Amino acid sequence: MCQIGESCERTYHVSERILVVEDHAGTLSLLTTLLQKEGFDVIGAGNGEDALRILKNEFPDLILLDIILTGMDGFDVCRTLKTDPLYRNVPVIMCTSKDTMPDRLKGAEFGADDYVAKPFNNRDLVKRIRLHLRLKSMEEQLMITGHELQTARKTLHEQTRAMERSQLETIHSLLAAVSAKDHNIGEHAQNVADLCNTMAGTMGFDKRSLLNLQYASILHDIGKIAVPTSVLAKENRLEKEELEIIRRHPGISAEIIRPISFLQKVIPIIRHHHENVDGSGYPDGLKGEEIPLESRILAVADAYDAMTSNRPYREAITRERALTLISERAGTQFDTDVVNVFVEVMSESATAESLASSMS
Ligand SMILES: [Fe+2]
Repeated sequence: MCQIGESCERTYHVSERILVVEDHAGTLSLLTTLLQKEGFDVIGAGNGEDALRILKNEFPDLILLDIILTGMDGFDVCRTLKTDPLYRNVPVIMCTSKDTMPDRLKGAEFGADDYVAKPFNNRDLVKRIRLHLRLKSMEEQLMITGHELQTARKTLHEQTRAMERSQLETIHSLLAAVSAKDHNIGEHAQNVADLCNTMAGTMGFDKRSLLNLQYASILHDIGKIAVPTSVLAKENRLEKEELEIIRRHPGISAEIIRPISFLQKVIPIIRHHHENVDGSGYPDGLKGEEIPLESRILAVADAYDAMTSNRPYREAITRERALTLISERAGTQFDTDVVNVFVEVMSESATAESLASSMS
């Protein structure tokens, strides 16, 4: 018999074909006539060795296997078939005139799918054959569907990965454009993104919302590309007109990303990252929960990184001073709940740093 990996030529049939293994010539002839009348193709084998020889060239849909045979008995034939991956799923109905429970158990142990006693009830035998063929067909259909489902899932996964890679490339291209004008913006964007990610993770954001907040953090100041360098890098206090120009950047950032389909949910986060919860912010003077939660988180992270970084017009302040200032502005500039999460996150970070330094 051909094993998996072996090269062998077989004939495959569209119609249902049954291999009958029976050493009594009269019974074999009767079964052949009965099954042919029912529309099956029938191949006969007079003993186990013949059956295995025939199987080198034929692939039946079902095997009707007598137990008592000269030479190999039906149990041996059944065990050989059921341990071969090529034939494992071909239904085997064992038949015998010696209908005993030990024989039935032995047949089941060797992988037989059913057991019929001689003399046959023709209608019952045909009914069982049709039932096993239908089950086999359903199993094959399930395997095909399972395989198709697996292939579709793999394709979807690969497409999602490719899309995410492409999205990330778009984000970094946009950031590179504005960083070329002011190199501080790139570093600031990454710091803000890291802090937002920690805060939103603590708040239980799901993966998609975290990703949108990451995109918003990285791109929130991209509109500064439209602000003259003389204003961005000015060392002295900004004039009223210059402040007006600076205050346009959230709206410009939002408009730059508006044509990009995967960033649609990021637009409002970016547009409102300079709103204050008391309504004194810009560009729309939104209050409290009118401001998207992501924008309220971004506002705190943005302020903290700006305060603790050197700017052309002032030196960086300490981390402790920035924490105090942000806490004092809870309920006016910043969302109180978000500030509480921020303080918690910063406290954990300080504890971790202090622990690391004491161990080094
Ligand atoms: Fe900003």
